[in-house]
Amino acid sequence: MCGIFGIVNDGTSQAAQTVLDGLKKLEYRGYDSWGIAIIPKSGGRIRIEKHVGKIGSAKTTLPDSTIAIGHTRWATHGGVTDINAHPHLDCSGQIAVIHNGIVENYQDLKEELKREKHTFHSETDTEVIAHAIEEELKTGRSINHAVFSVFNTLVGSNAIGVLDLHAGSIVICRNGSPLAIGIGSNSYYLGSDVTAFLKFTRRVYFLADGEAAVLTVNGVKLYDISSQAEKKLVTHTVDWKVEDVQKGGYPHFLLKEIIEQTATIKKTARLNETELKQIAKKIADGGRVVLCGCGTAFYCALAAKYYFSLAGIEAQAYGAYEFLPFAKFADKKTLFIAISQSGETADTLIAAKAAKKNGAHLIAVVNARASTLERLSDTIIAVGAGPEIAVVSTKAFTAQLATLYLLSRAVGGKYKEAQKAMTNLGAVLEKWLTPKNRTAILNLAKKLIDYEDMYLIGKHLNFPAAMEFALKIKETSYIHAEAFASGELKHGVITLIQKGTPCFALFANDETRQEVLSSATELKARGATIIGISPFAAPEFNYHIQTPELGDLTIFGNIIVGQLLGYYLGIGRGTDPDKPRNLAKSVTVK
Ligand code: G6P
Repeated sequence: MCGIFGIVNDGTSQAAQTVLDGLKKLEYRGYDSWGIAIIPKSGGRIRIEKHVGKIGSAKTTLPDSTIAIGHTRWATHGGVTDINAHPHLDCSGQIAVIHNGIVENYQDLKEELKREKHTFHSETDTEVIAHAIEEELKTGRSINHAVFSVFNTLVGSNAIGVLDLHAGSIVICRNGSPLAIGIGSNSYYLGSDVTAFLKFTRRVYFLADGEAAVLTVNGVKLYDISSQAEKKLVTHTVDWKVEDVQKGGYPHFLLKEIIEQTATIKKTARLNETELKQIAKKIADGGRVVLCGCGTAFYCALAAKYYFSLAGIEAQAYGAYEFLPFAKFADKKTLFIAISQSGETADTLIAAKAAKKNGAHLIAVVNARASTLERLSDTIIAVGAGPEIAVVSTKAFTAQLATLYLLSRAVGGKYKEAQKAMTNLGAVLEKWLTPKNRTAILNLAKKLIDYEDMYLIGKHLNFPAAMEFALKIKETSYIHAEAFASGELKHGVITLIQKGTPCFALFANDETRQEVLSSATELKARGATIIGISPFAAPEFNYHIQTPELGDLTIFGNIIVGQLLGYYLGIGRGTDPDKPRNLAKSVTVK
């Protein structure tokens, strides 16, 4: 969590404003407070501005500058206050630090630094880094070497940026938390991801763990932190376009990304054929499939488990945060499929590392590129949905599920058939997502807007679909929405139903239809309002949203209803659908 951004040699001399704009692109990483530090063009001390709250349309009053760093925070150590917002200064005011990660040994470091008479202003772990560098500088070392030495003492996953007044440089270091450098024409950038500087340059370098870089007006130098030796910097050009990180006429990224799915599903079906066939062969040769992820990615794992079963393969699915007790069962036969939009989710990385340590073949099903998960993995399956900016995952989820469907079918030699089915799915969804159908979901949202509790039922594939549907409602509108397997209903949960309680029933037109209809009837008999999400109408439904008839793929349409409904409910209840409270898109802490 937390986003960091910086620029050296800003041609506009408005480095603070440039950083502010860049931070807006990183807000998905955390948005409880933000801050910027600059070296004024006119000389003098480092100047800092920090505020609690989202950046939104904030303006900065910092003076002209060509060098600046900035940070958007998701609080871990210390409450959400101006003082705890980054950047943090040392006692002398010579250096300012921004940080993404957790310094696990910060208490010990803080005690030592206090004994050396350093004064702390915040409750953060980050501030110790500034004072530790100040202490190291007293030994006469250069700023680069002082930063490298201090970084080596930090325990945990961390990425830092250090602005030095005297050298007029920014030193950045990475261990576990993402950092990218952008090389523009005469301007140099750093960011937690490339979206922050895509507007200026597509020439990038992603730092590996244990690497540092120094950005000055003369360019960027890359170093190995342990040996402090310089390394050759080889950049590459990313294929993302500026439009990918803009709203493109939509009021919110979330709506844009929901609508984009019809194209991204078709696109993902054209990718990764070689890798998918290789993994399919390993499965056919007796490889054991273990699927793992957090949040939306976990529901993707659960849905994929049903697809594997339909293809005759037994797969297991775990929430990554609950995998460790089972990691001991991973071995050379295990194909550990880590699903993650960002590739940076701490729990998913921990689970992946544990499986790999026991000999598992690690497969990353990711959307963002050059992530930590990607670096760890033996096989990378990048689903190609493009930058997903809204915190709530939509198009990355459907691209990941589509890819895992392709994999499940590839095992039985049905790859081409599945690819056609995916292309058809994209086309059918495109025809179905008409303004008329979207309005029907909007009208349903208007009817449900004042309810605080909703329940969902589904069976087989529609059970994980109902869980993902519920998550979209919770994340976007803050309404309590809970999904149950329809078979579970009579075993306790039916007590929750009162007169008028909204209950969604998700269907496919298959052998589960009658059983779910019976459950819906039982709910209705206890006063529930039944909302059918299905390709067919039924007398049990008080409301009905018709989704395309797509056999095993019907859940894609059913889930998209949940995405749109969550979006409309959120708008109606005054939330920010792109940045729900308390969440961050990339949860890089345990
Ligand atoms: C956070 C987000 C969720 C997301 C989950 C996993 O909790 O709020 O929307 O599903 O992280 O993220 P990943 O990047 O691993 O898919």
